[in-house]
Amino acid sequence: MTLNVPPSLYAERRARLAAQLGPDGIAIIPTAPEHLRNRDSDFLYRHDSYFYYLTGFTEPNACLVLTADGHGTLFCNPKDPEREIWDGYRLGPEAAVAALGLDEAFAAAELDQRLPRLLENRACVWYPFATHAGLAARVEGWLGPVRARARYGALCPTRQADLCLLLDEMRLVKDVHELALMRHAAQISARAHVRAMQRCARMLREGREVREYHLDAELLHEFREHGAQAPAYNSIVAAGANACVLHYRADRAPVQGGDLVLIDAGCEYDGYASDITRTFPANGRFTGPQRALYDLVLASQEAAVAATKAGARFTEPHDATVAVLSQGLLDLGLLDRNKVGNVQDVIAQRAYFPFYMHRTGHWLGMDVHDCGSYVEPSEVGQVSERRDPLSGERIQDRPSRVLRPGMVLTIEPGLYVRPAPGVPEAFHHLGIRIEDDAVVQAHGCELMTRGVPVQPDEIEALMRE
Ligand code: GLY
Ligand code: MN
Ligand code: MN
Repeated sequence: MTLNVPPSLYAERRARLAAQLGPDGIAIIPTAPEHLRNRDSDFLYRHDSYFYYLTGFTEPNACLVLTADGHGTLFCNPKDPEREIWDGYRLGPEAAVAALGLDEAFAAAELDQRLPRLLENRACVWYPFATHAGLAARVEGWLGPVRARARYGALCPTRQADLCLLLDEMRLVKDVHELALMRHAAQISARAHVRAMQRCARMLREGREVREYHLDAELLHEFREHGAQAPAYNSIVAAGANACVLHYRADRAPVQGGDLVLIDAGCEYDGYASDITRTFPANGRFTGPQRALYDLVLASQEAAVAATKAGARFTEPHDATVAVLSQGLLDLGLLDRNKVGNVQDVIAQRAYFPFYMHRTGHWLGMDVHDCGSYVEPSEVGQVSERRDPLSGERIQDRPSRVLRPGMVLTIEPGLYVRPAPGVPEAFHHLGIRIEDDAVVQAHGCELMTRGVPVQPDEIEALMRE
């Protein structure tokens, strides 16, 4: 399996999507807008994932229009020698037809003029709802001229439908090309974590000051060294108590010898994300309480991994994690049996919540929190109601998604201990998460991210190197 995605793959995806649009359906899929960072300076451009999935095209200011008969029209930036001096090469509409296997292509500036004609006599307009600011209003704007031509016999579409419904289902199960890219991204990210761990221990051994940004620099170096375009999300490099801040960034805090360091970072390679968290002792040696808490999180991850296989529900790895963490919190004395009862009580009352307040995973793909329903589509009508034991809020539950081979999800249990009455001081300020990326298989799952170890002895050994 090479990493080169054949252009025919995008045409196949478009054909599969077109076949689901219904008679006289039409779909509009814009790419992402460019965003100004500050005066004359843009954020690094990132295409829209739906658009990329159907075209493989990464230029900004583009839009795909697809009709039910499989006819694909691209609107994109025209060739412009002067602009290309500033912004770089543009494919242009003339070359786009052959290069992307499309039927027609026009300059993006022609979109408003051509869209009404393309929408004429169509039954249903599909576009991704609530993902592109202003798109619904633009569709309204394009439908206006169609309605105005009604007296000449033009039919105006009577229905609008959310294209995410179709595309999310397609994207949820990854094909072999996507999995190859995701494995590649995962391997690069795993090496980056190893590199950051080793630099941390080395600098401390040499008596040098270590800051969170030194470790962030190692991650970035390894990502770019191996051709990844960017981090898939803002890297978290959190020393000591900072690890208890779930969305902490890689900042400038000093890393002390006795600290744990939590790094949550993964690269994006050719549009696909990886998402790894490791927690390690800054100087390469876990203390007793650090090791006890780490072993508990690792055991909970092992239970979640064992629960991740085709046929299981998406919630099963989370439930397995919670069962192990709850028992461990009682055993380590972070929860008081006299106050919270036994493990079933801890789970039922969500008494673990102050220490574990996030879910155990999410879909992973082009987006780090990838698209795809977490409810099993065929069972969406089976609603049950319960009251949340902590907030008292009424919650509607629907049967969770059944895992199928080729789905990719993260498995990322953690524990975050803030000082509180009754919580043993030895555990205060420890934040631990272990996160791997799993491909669902028939009888288990493949962990793509184990190029960086999770076993504490292995982490200590590699930090001694
Ligand atoms: N890094 C984002 C997440 O773990 O969900
Ligand atoms: Mn994650
Ligand atoms: Mn993560």
